[in-house]
Amino acid sequence: MKKLELLYEGKAKRIYRTNEENAVLVEYKDDATAFNGEKKAQITGKGHLNNEITSLLFSKLHASGIRTHYIGKLSETEQLVKRVVIIPLEVVVRNVIAGSLSKRLGIEEGTQLEKPIVEFYYKDDALGDPLINEDHIEILQAATKEQVQELKENALRVNEVLKEHFLGVEIRLVDFKLEFGLTEEGEILLADEISPDTCRLWDITTNEKFDKDVFRRDIGDLAKSYTEILHRLGGQIACT
Ligand code: C5P
Repeated sequence: MKKLELLYEGKAKRIYRTNEENAVLVEYKDDATAFNGEKKAQITGKGHLNNEITSLLFSKLHASGIRTHYIGKLSETEQLVKRVVIIPLEVVVRNVIAGSLSKRLGIEEGTQLEKPIVEFYYKDDALGDPLINEDHIEILQAATKEQVQELKENALRVNEVLKEHFLGVEIRLVDFKLEFGLTEEGEILLADEISPDTCRLWDITTNEKFDKDVFRRDIGDLAKSYTEILHRLGGQIACT
């Protein structure tokens, strides 16, 4: 497999073409950003940690019968994934009220929800990724009604698998963001990443945060927090 030209550079990852028609290479960067890119830092080891954590979680989901773009890890910071066209929706699942939902509803962060909820945000940096509903998705032609239903069902299945998996290592999966892509055949695959950049992960007893809120809120050492998650999930790399 050959790494060819850069196709796309995002805030946390670069995507490269490969000599394989249906696969692209994802390289995880050490850049940390928050608040739509307003807060920025370089954190040594973050790309390695997120590559390891995402690889472990996608493998777990695959073993549970969830179809993902993940093919395999290539190096400390690189993985090979199936080529898809990303659906321009961020699918957020919440088990506990936190972050923007706490602000929007005026309910205290940490309040347990009786059942998980699913939200859609329109992936558009210029608009600030606004919260949208199914009627808006139709107007934007971001996905069909059937696809929206499938995205919701997939997101809730991912939640069931990951919630249990994290509970087993004494972590509360508070909320997370997923992205999905379409293959050439029109199949929906779970894509992007699942890491402490895209999830809220709290210690089950102390509520200590081991996710990007550590960086957003300046409440600790991001690399140490992500290393704790990797170690609890059974990953190997040393603290950076
Ligand atoms: O900010 P908010 O509370 O809506 O975030 C919900 C969840 O989605 C959090 O786990 C957050 O890290 C994740 N998220 C993300 N990328 C975004 C927005 C939210 O990974 N652009």
